[in-house]
Amino acid sequence: MKNTLPALGFALVASACSAFGRASPLPMDIHSHAQPNRVRVKHASLDLELDFERQEARGSVRLDLERLDPKAELVLDAQALVIEAVEGEDGKPRTFELGPEDKQFGSALTIALGASDRSVLVRYHTTKATQALQWLAPEQTHDKKSPYLFTQGQAILTRTWIPLQDSPGVRLTYEARITCPDGLTPVMSAEQLGRGKDGAWRFRMPQAIPSYLIALGCGEIAFLPISKRCGIWAEPGQVAAAREEFGDTEKMVQAAEKLFGPYRWGRYDLLILPPSFPFGGMENPRLTFATPTVLAGDKSLVSLVAHELAHSWSGNLVTNATWSDFWLNEGFTVYFETRIMEAVYGAERAQMERELAIGELERGMKELEPWQQVLHTKLDGHHPDDGFSDIPYTKGALFLSRLEQLVGRARFDVFLRKWFDQHAFRSVTTADLRAFMAQELFNGKEASGIDLEAWLEQPGLPADAPRPKTQSLAKVEREVERWKAKKDASALVCDGWVTQQWLHFLEGVADGIDAQGMGTLDGRFHFTQTGNCEILDIWLRLSIHCGYGAADARLEEFLMDVGRRKYLEPLYKELKQTPAGLERAKAIYAKARPRYHAVSSGTIDALLGWPTGS
Ligand code: BES
Ligand code: ZN
Repeated sequence: MKNTLPALGFALVASACSAFGRASPLPMDIHSHAQPNRVRVKHASLDLELDFERQEARGSVRLDLERLDPKAELVLDAQALVIEAVEGEDGKPRTFELGPEDKQFGSALTIALGASDRSVLVRYHTTKATQALQWLAPEQTHDKKSPYLFTQGQAILTRTWIPLQDSPGVRLTYEARITCPDGLTPVMSAEQLGRGKDGAWRFRMPQAIPSYLIALGCGEIAFLPISKRCGIWAEPGQVAAAREEFGDTEKMVQAAEKLFGPYRWGRYDLLILPPSFPFGGMENPRLTFATPTVLAGDKSLVSLVAHELAHSWSGNLVTNATWSDFWLNEGFTVYFETRIMEAVYGAERAQMERELAIGELERGMKELEPWQQVLHTKLDGHHPDDGFSDIPYTKGALFLSRLEQLVGRARFDVFLRKWFDQHAFRSVTTADLRAFMAQELFNGKEASGIDLEAWLEQPGLPADAPRPKTQSLAKVEREVERWKAKKDASALVCDGWVTQQWLHFLEGVADGIDAQGMGTLDGRFHFTQTGNCEILDIWLRLSIHCGYGAADARLEEFLMDVGRRKYLEPLYKELKQTPAGLERAKAIYAKARPRYHAVSSGTIDALLGWPTGS
């Protein structure tokens, strides 16, 4: 991609910054065209009309600017947008130029500012190629009555629905005026100000956030409270079940506050999306977006809420400054998630989840290139998504667990709380963390007792990574051995097993199982019919692997209905292993693809070599 900052630009611009203004210089972000060290966007006022018929959002955004270099032009990121006009503060047109479009990173939108412009207004509309938005037909929703729209900004998709400086180092406040058809309710990652006399809905986010956290959902949705500050938004036919499943949310917020300081965003609500939502959850501030696949009916998958809630500290309050520091968001969050789970559901449950995650990390590591196994990733020449794996999550959390082990929980908790307090509403790098660790944990010296280079800059998992082992999963391993010896499902002792135990069981029997064995297990445990998507996901993968045809119909139904990338990718990958499977994958994908969000179809397109543009 083009980036007009030369390699040495950071140092030069850093000194320029102190000459021109107050804002502290931001590190270079190779995934953005913006030059926030020259002119920085501080606030966005969105005014959008959602046109469900044309599947288009149209209107304008006003951007308030801090002009660090008074002579510099404003450079924004824009992708798949039609820019209609740009106006200065006087309402008169300003010249702008949309640079060449890079398929992954979009274009630089360069605007010539008038000498006194403190803001600009960009009039624009989205297009069919706008990847952040998914417009759903009524059939794709839970209640199947009304259309639906949602956005997904992380990592670099906000530029496909709003022209702005789409870099996680740039923080901005925002407000929005949204119009949509009667009967639909828009919600945003912001304070909901309600519907005005003009029929438009208004929102306000007074705290400065990175652009990837600007989010919008719109559909026929209802609200049920959980507590004074927590509640559920979901389609009317699903909201009561979701309220039940996530009934512990307030307890989680309280546990989190007790650990790492006050929840600073006012409300914490959840929006349950239609099943095509490409992620498990997305930590949009004040309003976590969540997949309905976590509605298992028994609260067994609620660690997802603990995770997205934890991002209210690690990620939303203290944000990775570049996508190379992504592990600072996710590793801290997984560590924090486990602490919340421990506080609310006890140590055994939390430990089981950690143990499962480590197993997954180790299985997945083999498929990653060495550069992808590094926490502080070098993303030159790569899309941020290429660094997405269990590494930033599980290896990142293990690094923090190792530090906890080293200095003791009491000291480590003080350290983390201070990290959040002192960096609140700021974006941080791996170097910032290293400096803070030296100062707060190691008396101003390089760390002792831990090899920071190995943990942060090298591939693989260091030998001192903690390896929790639980009784509950050890019990499962004994039954796995019994199964492997006799293949007799009726002899297995698994009364009272929880989801995490079943997951461990299925991973355990995977090695060496055949279609007949699958049939035997299915006969006793009815896995093909399970309503638990985590269990179903492994089961379907195994079914493909050993040609267990009795699960064929369920597999197709699942792939048609669910768009969560974490499930789709391994399933299509497994199908691809045989020529017949690949044919089947292509036949299903041809039907399913229009139902997936661009994040998921992008991944599956690449996996199946799908001709894009179709
Ligand atoms: N922020 C992530 C989702 C994300 C990461 C979106 C990178 C786009 C780019 C979110 O917090 C997350 O990690 N979700 C997980 C669930 C979690 C319980 C591990 C997911 O979606 O699977
Ligand atoms: Zn996360």
